[in-house]
Amino acid sequence: MRGTSLYVHVPFCVVKCGYCDFNSYVITDGESHDLFLGALDRELAISGVPTAPVSVFIGGGTPSYLDPARLTRLFEILRRHVDLDRCPEVTMEANPESLTREKAAIALASGVRRASIGVQSFRADRLKMLDRAHSADHARSAFADLRSAGFTNVNLDMMFGLPGQQLEEWQTDLEEALRLKPDHLSCYNLTFEPGTRFHHELEHGRMSRNDESIDSTIFTWTRQHLHAAGFSAYEVSNFAGRGGPCHHNDHYWLQGDYVGVGPGASSHRSGVRWTNLKALEPWARLCLSGGRPSATAETLTPKQRAGEAAWLGLRRADGVDLEQIALSTGIDVAALFASAITANQNLGFLTMRGSRLLLTDAGLLFADRVAGDFLTPPG
Ligand SMILES: C[S@@+](CC[C@H](N)C(=O)[O-])C[C@H]1O[C@@H](n2cnc3c(N)ncnc32)[C@H](O)[C@@H]1O
Ligand code: SF4
Repeated sequence: MRGTSLYVHVPFCVVKCGYCDFNSYVITDGESHDLFLGALDRELAISGVPTAPVSVFIGGGTPSYLDPARLTRLFEILRRHVDLDRCPEVTMEANPESLTREKAAIALASGVRRASIGVQSFRADRLKMLDRAHSADHARSAFADLRSAGFTNVNLDMMFGLPGQQLEEWQTDLEEALRLKPDHLSCYNLTFEPGTRFHHELEHGRMSRNDESIDSTIFTWTRQHLHAAGFSAYEVSNFAGRGGPCHHNDHYWLQGDYVGVGPGASSHRSGVRWTNLKALEPWARLCLSGGRPSATAETLTPKQRAGEAAWLGLRRADGVDLEQIALSTGIDVAALFASAITANQNLGFLTMRGSRLLLTDAGLLFADRVAGDFLTPPG
């Protein structure tokens, strides 16, 4: 997909989940939310975002945490800069405890066509362990609110690989999710991200990773089960049902251009990447003074672009087209990464189909590790 996408980061959350290293924080006062909205308006004005991006993703953090008046204002601001009705895909993330029928209706009337609910689990003990602020009933009623407002494309985010989890537990959880008849599913394997509470507990022996072989069994079972249920595994963690794939994420994985606005959001344009200041106030101050709120900027070398294209794309079901990468970067990526390709082929993790390099079924289980071999070009 050519063109430019837009990502809008709403950084507020009602609680900070112990596993989450996204740029999100518990800021509850309305003045800070207003500060965010005012600054976002200014950032969008100088962001260079096209009037009709190929996709828009309003994520977080928790966009649904904004109260109805502020959510309405968020969309008024967005619509001042972007013609949401002309965007082929507009997604908003929501959390079950804060999404209401009223907010769903505001989002739909404003041009949002796709919604993504962070459910993670339907079990009370797991939701508590994950610091989630919602119950299984909240998740079901958030889904019903989206449907009754008119949403026909709803994703559920689920999480597996929780400490001590067995296949049977996950099977029950995924069945609960399927009972709602979602249009897309994301099933993420829990990762212990440095800097999070979970990571800290792991380091101090108060938490342990789930058994790797059980996670592999869960992963393989999930792919088979969702395939039988009519979902297509178009990426390692993502399954398209009636709603089709998430084009916004696919655009990232295909190394497309995107503009990110909001604290900590990153952007990418033709090999140049920059990231915004993460904290609300410094980010807002720069935006309001008419400046660019970026903290870091980096121009990727052709070799880095080629490596990143492989790293990002390998998790997609149809892998990466090495000839296409060579054409767009001028780098013979097959030669540059010959030893990584051969080593992973010998392990049975990668295979070539024409000019495409793909993960095998065995390789899918080690997708991050295999893709990671391409992140840093040799030499
Ligand atoms: C960062 S959240 C933002 C949306 C929303 N606030 C929520 O909680 O769903 C997006 C998704 O990332 C996933 N996620 C975040 N941290 C993760 C981790 N450490 N391991 C696996 N999945 C994670 C969760 O499934 C979550 O739904
Ligand atoms: S997982 Fe979602 S709700 Fe939890 S802290 Fe991260 S962004 Fe906020």
